[in-house]
Amino acid sequence: MKEFNAFPEHFMWGGATAANQIEGGSDEGGKGLSASDVYLFDPNTPKEHWSDQWFMMTHAQVKEAQDPQSKRFYPKRFGIDFYHRYEEDIALFAEMGFKCFRMSLAWTRIFPNGDELEPNEEGLAFYDRVFDCLIKHNITPIVSLSHYEMPLHLITEYEGWIDRRVVDFYLRFATTVFKRYRTKVKYWMTFNEINCVKHHPYVSVGIIEEGYEHLEQGKYQGAHHQFVASALATKACHKIIPGSQVGCMISYQMLYPYSCHPDDVQACLEQQRVSLFFSDVQATGRYPAYADRLFKEKGVVLKKEVGDDEILAQYPVDFVSFSYYMSSTVSAHPENLEGAQGNLITGGIKNPYLPSSDWGWQIDPKGLRLALNQLYERYHKPLFIAENGLGTGDTVNPDGSIDDDYRIDYLRQHIEQMKEAIADGVDLFGYTWWGPIDIISASTNQITKRYGFIHVDQDDCGQGTRNRSRKKSFFWYKKVIASNGSDLA
Ligand code: BG6
Repeated sequence: MKEFNAFPEHFMWGGATAANQIEGGSDEGGKGLSASDVYLFDPNTPKEHWSDQWFMMTHAQVKEAQDPQSKRFYPKRFGIDFYHRYEEDIALFAEMGFKCFRMSLAWTRIFPNGDELEPNEEGLAFYDRVFDCLIKHNITPIVSLSHYEMPLHLITEYEGWIDRRVVDFYLRFATTVFKRYRTKVKYWMTFNEINCVKHHPYVSVGIIEEGYEHLEQGKYQGAHHQFVASALATKACHKIIPGSQVGCMISYQMLYPYSCHPDDVQACLEQQRVSLFFSDVQATGRYPAYADRLFKEKGVVLKKEVGDDEILAQYPVDFVSFSYYMSSTVSAHPENLEGAQGNLITGGIKNPYLPSSDWGWQIDPKGLRLALNQLYERYHKPLFIAENGLGTGDTVNPDGSIDDDYRIDYLRQHIEQMKEAIADGVDLFGYTWWGPIDIISASTNQITKRYGFIHVDQDDCGQGTRNRSRKKSFFWYKKVIASNGSDLA
């Protein structure tokens, strides 16, 4: 009989990363420049502007980044040197008892410009070594095909995902890696946080926003092409790797109406639809009923090719995965509300009942239980928590130790709510903590917004030994995994 309030026997515990935030070695092995290699870090820029580029990339910034003589610092070209240190890092994950490791492939290691006919063998061989190392340690790889790292060339020469030809380039990349790693990788995700195009169209679909006319049209057209690409990749994966599992991946921010006023409840429903629209398509295989009105109001007219709807219908994803960091509230009239501006990365209104991280992300473990229930009731597909974590500063004690009890508390509270959701009947099969080792932040490009159980001796300007050391949370998570989530003391 199923034990109540417990994790399933083969629950997949682990950690998650992305190539562009950890690998480095951007000028090695024949790698090309990716969308993320353009993000710079400049300590002289006021802190509140560190994520400006994330939301709005300019042509001049892209051009400057392409110049080999540029003296600017682009942290994602250096990462934390996983490219050279992956064996040491994976051994540390194994020591924590990881059952799985979510990682992404740098598309530009395999197709440096994205439109080549033949893959780059050096890039393929690198991931062979990484997968072999994981398998040696009994860690199951879970691989994202695209995690904010499309080839820059496809952005500057093709207008990103707006150009239908990019679907073919992505499929060439996908089928190449399915064939190459068919005996090594069973779990795949097609696009990381596919629903975040609404916040950052540059890194999501390759639109350089500056001067771009009819942005909404571009975002949804790019997304449509990604849906088709995802469905065709799912088809190919099932054919090439029998028994494989392909998931979609969305960013899930739990949304609450700011008040019980019906207008706030309606506004909340609408905002939730804007977000879940993406997994609605990928999980159910069709555009949802509310899409017509959504498009009409945004002035979007999608260009679909004959057969697109059938492709979406025939090849939906096998499982639904998501990132969960925070919740937010929605009001129909945010103008005069305290906390309406500037306190959350996605522009929501602050919830007075919840604490915030130092980066303004509101911490809401109970929202995770709600999210799991909502997604399961909506899709009836197995769920996987692909990201969850606390990015914050750490203090290194004189003896080198780090007492990150705040990280342990955050994790404990979220695991407790996962347990509740499983007891509610949710089919949750895995959990990967975001950034089990300190990595470069996606939005601010700094490393001192630290997520890791493993400390990396490196500062925001890339200085330091890059040596790895275990934080207190390392030992705590190890205990949790060893007890399959029952020992949370
Ligand atoms: C998710 C992304 O949005 O959030 C990750 O998939 C990212 O790539 C993570 O790192 C945390 O965000 P940040 O900006 O703190 O790195």
